[in-house]
Amino acid sequence: MDTITLGRTNLQVSVMGMGGGGPSRLGSRDNRISEAESIAIVQQALDAGVNFIDTAEAYGTEEIVGKAIKDRLRESVVISSKKTTWDTDMSREAVISSLENSLRRLDTDYIDIYHLHGVEPDKYEPYLQDVVPVLQAMQQQGKIRFIGVTEAWNSDKEHIMLQRALQDDIWDVFMVGYNLLNQTARKTVLQPCIEQNIGTLIMFAVRRALSLPDHLKDTLQKLIDSGELDAVEIDMNDPLGFLTADGIAESIPDAAYRFSRYTPGVHVTLSGTGNPAHLQQNIASLQRPPLPSETVERLNHIFRKVRSVTGQ
Ligand SMILES: NC(=O)c1ccc[n+]([C@@H]2O[C@H](COP(=O)([O-])OP(=O)(O)OC[C@H]3O[C@@H](n4cnc5c(N)ncnc54)[C@H](OP(=O)(O)O)[C@@H]3O)[C@@H](O)[C@H]2O)c1
Repeated sequence: MDTITLGRTNLQVSVMGMGGGGPSRLGSRDNRISEAESIAIVQQALDAGVNFIDTAEAYGTEEIVGKAIKDRLRESVVISSKKTTWDTDMSREAVISSLENSLRRLDTDYIDIYHLHGVEPDKYEPYLQDVVPVLQAMQQQGKIRFIGVTEAWNSDKEHIMLQRALQDDIWDVFMVGYNLLNQTARKTVLQPCIEQNIGTLIMFAVRRALSLPDHLKDTLQKLIDSGELDAVEIDMNDPLGFLTADGIAESIPDAAYRFSRYTPGVHVTLSGTGNPAHLQQNIASLQRPPLPSETVERLNHIFRKVRSVTGQ
């Protein structure tokens, strides 16, 4: 698995990160698979050279990650976790307690990247004033190595919060929503991150719209109805079929992960799955070469006006 420097953190991370949330939560959502099987999924990724794992207190997967890394050298894995920011107490005591609980569930002394999770634009200023100093104090104590922030993409589709966060020289890492359907982050977030050397983690590279064919059709129809997509540019009988024609990509998820991986400014593309066969495919996808430039240009052109969907 190729590695890359995660911006100003200088951490060497795999270009694919294991996502512990999303629709799968390592297969734990709706108890689709057992805890032992979820642990095995994480270990399968580690064995393939993935050294980046993302989780959060909100996902209920920190214990799975803790158990999966138990017999590995702690410094061989980069762990990212998050403090929930919605419907919750954000006092100093509550933030410290959240972090201590995450450390206990992960069975570790430190978290490499600790984020404020899903920050809505109107909450950014108060958290900057009141919560960031608490995180910095925890960083001084060695419990956090780097500080990150993740956006609430389903409600903040044009990345207002992250654009505001770019003005403060305190964030080491951003987690940003980006995929071939909604490419708005490329100019507004990823390009400035290159200039400011901020590490980037991509969520939603595939999500539901690019993994479930019926969901893709519904999403494309919505975009045609809203005027963000020209109907002549999409064959609704075989949406995005050109991606798999002539062996360009193995599948739509394959094309979608590669689209993300090779976008300038992207460091880690997160892949969330609870299915060992999907994981194996995704590991292969993230090691394949870029899509041909004319395919990328075609995708950029088709989806150039899209603002209203995330692929959720
Ligand atoms: N605001 C935030 O901080 C935030 C929000 C969202 C996500 N995240 C993080 O980002 C990570 C990745 O996000 P994501 O959930 O959007 O991940 P994703 O990798 O873009 O999509 C995951 C979905 O695609 C399916 N899938 C994966 N590989 C597949 C394949 N080869 N073929 C068919 N279906 C496939 C998965 O189902 P199967 O289980 O069936 O494979 C799952 O439903 C999350 O796990 C989480 O760690 C953070």
